[in-house]
Amino acid sequence: MNILVINGPNLNLLGIRKPEIYGTDTLEELMMWLETNPVSSDHSFKFYQTNHEGEIIDTIQDERHWAKGILINPGAFTHYSYAIRDAIVSVAIPTVEVHLSDIHNREEFRQISVISPVCINQVSGLGKDSYIKGLKLLINYLAAR
Ligand code: DQA
Repeated sequence: MNILVINGPNLNLLGIRKPEIYGTDTLEELMMWLETNPVSSDHSFKFYQTNHEGEIIDTIQDERHWAKGILINPGAFTHYSYAIRDAIVSVAIPTVEVHLSDIHNREEFRQISVISPVCINQVSGLGKDSYIKGLKLLINYLAAR
């Protein structure tokens, strides 16, 4: 299965950005760990990170013929990007939203996701395991289709 992994704004600073919240792994280490995890074998990945909302939308659109599923950590766009939400709906590719931190137990503005209603699932608060759990949910969903 072809899986598109998208990481949004400020996630390029993982490792130095609030390690007590987001952990000490860099994004590269985290994505390498995800790709080499046994859950990932037999699947193909493309990894994108950008700090720009429009680039996330362009990536979702550009990869729509390749991707069978999307794993996305939209960063702060989670909380207000109706444009990213519309892009996910437009391409109709099953998508799982993931977060390193537990957005439901942080500041009030983080507790709302405008993305999750158009995703098949949301995984939050498990640190890097959120990505593995999210990937498992996505793969199981795609396999059952
Ligand atoms: C995050 C949570 C968001 O609220 C925040 O803006 C991020 C990271 C997470 O992975 O926990 O950039 O998506």
